[in-house]
Amino acid sequence: MNIAVGSDHAGFEFKKTVLAWLERSGYEFTDMGPYDEGSVDYPDYARKVAKAVAEGLCDSGVLLCGTGIGVSISANKIKGIRAAVACNPEFATLARQHNNANIICFSARFTDQATIEQSLHNWFSTDFEGGRHQQRVNKIEPCC
Ligand code: RB5
Repeated sequence: MNIAVGSDHAGFEFKKTVLAWLERSGYEFTDMGPYDEGSVDYPDYARKVAKAVAEGLCDSGVLLCGTGIGVSISANKIKGIRAAVACNPEFATLARQHNNANIICFSARFTDQATIEQSLHNWFSTDFEGGRHQQRVNKIEPCC
């Protein structure tokens, strides 16, 4: 499984936490930047990660910005992407169980390291429940 990871400058430090967790947990990953803490525009990195997932180059993605909101809005513009902000580990579990999210987004400014690590654990160890949730996920389509 190859995981695409990206952030903006606000998420840069916690991106290192994510990469370290993925490495410790035995996942392959692709760091899609940025590669230093200089100021960048979050849609550029969100798009890179989202396109890698949508095109099947990576299985899923992790994105970080100040709130997680900017990267999630941007990633969700790419067809086939279901990016969810996880504020806590329970959000991460439900994002997989109910929404089959293929990208998880974190706030670097309002989340701590332990929360991010537990959320990653939950997200990667939880399965989509399907059933009534599949029917709803099928309805998530661009409509205009
Ligand atoms: C950058 O200052 C900040 O706006 C960005 O990281 C993010 O929070 C946007 O949603």
